[in-house]
Amino acid sequence: MDYNLFKYEFHKLSGIDLNYYKEKQMKRRIESQIKRSGFESYSDFLAALRKKDSLYEAFLSYITINVTEFYRNPGQWDTFEKEILPMVLQRSSTPKIWSCACSTGEEPYTIAMILAKYLTPDKIKILASDIDDAAIAKAKEAKYSFKSVESLPNEFKSKYFRHSEDDKFELKCLIKRCVEFRHLDLLKDDYPMDCDIIVCRNVLIYFTETAKDMIYKRFNKSLKPNGILYLGNTEQIIKPDKYKLKSLKTFYYTKDEELPEKPEEELQ
Ligand SMILES: C[S@@+](CC[C@H](N)C(=O)[O-])C[C@H]1O[C@@H](n2cnc3c(N)ncnc32)[C@H](O)[C@@H]1O
Repeated sequence: MDYNLFKYEFHKLSGIDLNYYKEKQMKRRIESQIKRSGFESYSDFLAALRKKDSLYEAFLSYITINVTEFYRNPGQWDTFEKEILPMVLQRSSTPKIWSCACSTGEEPYTIAMILAKYLTPDKIKILASDIDDAAIAKAKEAKYSFKSVESLPNEFKSKYFRHSEDDKFELKCLIKRCVEFRHLDLLKDDYPMDCDIIVCRNVLIYFTETAKDMIYKRFNKSLKPNGILYLGNTEQIIKPDKYKLKSLKTFYYTKDEELPEKPEEELQ
């Protein structure tokens, strides 16, 4: 069995289509995981994955790469609070925000804490989704290590966390209640509509250009007019007008329905 056949069989097994993930990187990661787990070949490894036990769960978490932390890239959150949020709050007093690759929850909870400076918690509704169910389960538990809250401003740490018996930072219900978690595969599931802000950070970097193209088109449909797409620190859309998006800063885009239609070839 080669990588192509493994991708095909793994898609049938898990519903995850590895064809949309950058091949060189993914293949290298999978082959090193096969070796590390003591298997000789793709077919032996696949047979073990078919048992859907802890190896399968660990493999899903490994390939989906759920590294994250509270207040990741603080400069971006400053821009979010000082420039983006005021614009959005002018249009809506209960903005609909979607964190679409939320991993273990640090990102949507960061958003909820920032919003809580301006809105009462009953007005804060954040939808957070991810393909990795184990990550979502951790997000719902909302107990974090010191490392994961390290970059979070002290005002948030002292206000919204309590020390748990197992020496973790446990998020208080006030903020937990602002976020609804859901399983959602960006490559195949339906997207929520009428979003004021879509936060999509540090996941598109793993996808092929074809996958990104499809996702940007779908983001456009999910955003309200003038809605905001917020990407990772170093992520950039090369031809944003192809998706009727206008760049505000390198990592922020706004949906602009006024942009003229351009033939596809002009945008290549
Ligand atoms: C590196 S984390 C990013 C977490 C957070 N957005 C941040 O920037 O800190 C990438 C996340 O993307 C998720 N992911 C990977 N493929 C996905 C897909 N097809 N649909 C939805 N989420 C996906 C992973 O499970 C992982 O939790």
